[in-house]
Amino acid sequence: MEKLVIKGPTPLKGEVTINGAKNAAVAILPATLLINGSCTIENLPNISDIKISCEILEKLGAKIKWNTKNSITIDTSNLSTTTAPLDLTSKFRASYYVIGAMLGRKGEIEVGMPGGCKLGARPIDQHIKGFESLGATITTEKGTIYAKAQKLTGAPIYMDVVSVGATINVMLASVLAEGTTVIDNAAKEPHIVDVANFLNTMGADIRGAGTDVIKINGVKKLNGNATYSVVPDQIEAGTFMLAAVATKGDIVIKNCITKHLESITAKIIEVGGNVEDNIDSIHVWCDKRPHKATIKTLPYPGFPTDLQPQMGVVLSLANGNSIIHESIWDSRFQYTEELNKMGAKITAQGKTAFFEGVKKLTGSPVYSSDLRAGAALVIAGISADGITEVYNLEHIDRGYENIEEKFRKLGANIKRINE
Ligand code: UD1
Repeated sequence: MEKLVIKGPTPLKGEVTINGAKNAAVAILPATLLINGSCTIENLPNISDIKISCEILEKLGAKIKWNTKNSITIDTSNLSTTTAPLDLTSKFRASYYVIGAMLGRKGEIEVGMPGGCKLGARPIDQHIKGFESLGATITTEKGTIYAKAQKLTGAPIYMDVVSVGATINVMLASVLAEGTTVIDNAAKEPHIVDVANFLNTMGADIRGAGTDVIKINGVKKLNGNATYSVVPDQIEAGTFMLAAVATKGDIVIKNCITKHLESITAKIIEVGGNVEDNIDSIHVWCDKRPHKATIKTLPYPGFPTDLQPQMGVVLSLANGNSIIHESIWDSRFQYTEELNKMGAKITAQGKTAFFEGVKKLTGSPVYSSDLRAGAALVIAGISADGITEVYNLEHIDRGYENIEEKFRKLGANIKRINE
């Protein structure tokens, strides 16, 4: 079993470069299934979710060549099957994007129910509603989803909840449909814009991504033959911004789009941190104990749920009592029990957590329950007195490329040990 062993406290100092966005990349890879040709994708994060995505595409018949550790050329001219490998698709959430893409390309797909972080109920009713509106039939049986369509026809689709996954999946299914699809109450996250930009680069006609109405005019074919670079990861950048505050550090975060980080910047300033926006890099520093704050997670451009646990570490160390209300997921406070082992004073009740700020955290063995909880525990370990051991690294490796190397370069005493 692998663990990260961290000796703290260390104020993080220096520069860190952000990778391409996981949540964009895990959608762009299946989106290549819509292309009758090949394309090159650059700035791919080298993480386990991407490796599994590539394996799934290869099992469907795609030919993949790795140009560097962050760039692939993928040829999806000849697909050999419409059955996705059930063992692989059930390993992570974004495998559901294969449904939209394969419905568009082949009119058929059989895929396992998506896995991913256990954050509470994760229904896919809005995805199904969207596919059905376009003319597909979806059935589920014993953990397998069967999707089929004689023909997909563009339609108006109103999303009952703002969903990143459903917005992207319906966008994928409508790119090659006949006529126009309008997605109303669409999610607006930067990775939605990135997937639309990728598809448009390959020949699609998508307008309005980044607003809550997306219009997709169906085209006959995507030819590909182009190179696309994935947008920088908003959540990875936010993780290092909050690490600077929690450790009373001073970090320049390079290769990020600061516009995507405004909600995090605002909260960092509110708790007494300093932020200097340099357009494609952001400088964050903090030399005192953070102030208390109230946080409510919301769809973009609100404060992202995927940075809620990392913000939780900051508030556990704040001067005063703070509150976080998690409005997206039912079960996203599992990390608070681990922080309490380190001396934090947090009471979680349903979707709200109350933080009584403490002066310091103390090292302890802790277990990540999911990807972002894992990142939060690493930050907590770097800011804590003594030795912290972080277990369940498979969660962290799903979404962060070389996390310990990046923190080590910022001065952290952190190493990965295989017990
Ligand atoms: C994506 C992100 C995840 C992030 C989340 C919210 C990826 C791969 N994952 O997850 O990291 O935490 O956005 O920013 O991009 N819902 C329904 N019915 C549906 C779909 C969603 O009720 O059909 C609900 C969910 O239960 C949740 C809310 O809508 O309460 C938002 O979920 P959604 O935006 O779909 O999250 P994911 O795409 O799964």
